Amino acid sequence: MPAKPLSIWHPFTQEALDPQPIHIERGQGVYLYTRDARKLIDAISSWWVNLHGHAHPLIAEAIAEQARKLEHVIFAGFTHDAAEELAQRLRRVLPQPLEHIFFSDDGSTAVEVALKMALQFWRNQGKQRKNKFVGLEHAYHGDTVGAMSVGAEFDFVAAFQGLRFPVWRVPSAHCFRCPVGKRRATCDIDCVGPLCLSKGLTGGFLPLAATVCTPAVYETFRSTDRSHTFFHGHSYTANPLGCAAAVANLKIFDSEPVFERIAVIEKIHSQRAPALAAHPAVADVRTIGTVMALELKADDPGYFSELRPALYDFYLDKGVLLRPLGNVVYILPPYVITPEQLHYVYEVIAESLDRVPWLAAQRAGHGTARQETE
Ligand SMILES: Cc1ncc(COP(=O)(O)O)c(C=O)c1O
Repeated sequence: MPAKPLSIWHPFTQEALDPQPIHIERGQGVYLYTRDARKLIDAISSWWVNLHGHAHPLIAEAIAEQARKLEHVIFAGFTHDAAEELAQRLRRVLPQPLEHIFFSDDGSTAVEVALKMALQFWRNQGKQRKNKFVGLEHAYHGDTVGAMSVGAEFDFVAAFQGLRFPVWRVPSAHCFRCPVGKRRATCDIDCVGPLCLSKGLTGGFLPLAATVCTPAVYETFRSTDRSHTFFHGHSYTANPLGCAAAVANLKIFDSEPVFERIAVIEKIHSQRAPALAAHPAVADVRTIGTVMALELKADDPGYFSELRPALYDFYLDKGVLLRPLGNVVYILPPYVITPEQLHYVYEVIAESLDRVPWLAAQRAGHGTARQETE
């Protein structure tokens, strides 16, 4: 068999350096099952999208049922049950006054929609000069041009500098290392709309996103002047299969003990984090909700840290999918992970810390002084 049987170009992958993609045949619950008969704990919810486990039967069935009824219809001038039910359910959980829901395809497009909506909001009121955006330091909003522009200057946007439009940069609200010394609980910088939703919206089954705005924004687009129309839409806007998956996903919050599961994950994070933080290879450990992030001391901190490929391979060998961001390892498991499975993930991470190359070198007596990443 040739090294690359298909000409498929994988995302965020350096094909000259990274290993061949792992072929997954099926998923169930927290596990991914490989073609070579291994099973991996998906400890990052497949890029943060999976909420209730892989192949959840209720979401799978909802998609199948919808597919038998209506797979898709143009959303300009038409509507359907799945979108209406999803909008109603989202309205119930969204903070007021976020009321008007504009569907798109993924997180990046939801951000593009928000940017265009904001610009046209002012234009529709005759304020063309209101055309500057504010972006948060350290922010990541996706890989499309607008999303990259309002996002921060990461290593992986360097090649696209010429496309990024200028943005006023301000410190992040609720950021980890607050430049003005605020703490999350006392920071009074509130998030402002529009709100972009995607990632887990369909429970990890199908791409779908929503940009939600207030009536104050929406009303500037409702006009007898057709030029005030929001001229944005994608072929698959509000795809019925995606909407049906999202409805089923939200229903699971009512039919299964999801919040209890979340509380268990949070508790295990808070129990395990202190021991990790005390390890000499660790610069910092932080947790929020079901996310735990562990920052390793590194000679080369950042996205291209050489620690990343070594750790990634180590975790896979132990049966755990963890995809470090450079020298930062994070866990964000599907909510159905059991305590035993989550403790196993922690055991594997703890073991990996003793394998961090510089630490081994230091123990052997020829290490150099390490610099903590700040
Ligand atoms: C905060 C945030 N915004 C936007 C995006 C982009 O979403 P997508 O990858 O679905 O385009 C991501 C993806 O990781 C994200 O984490």
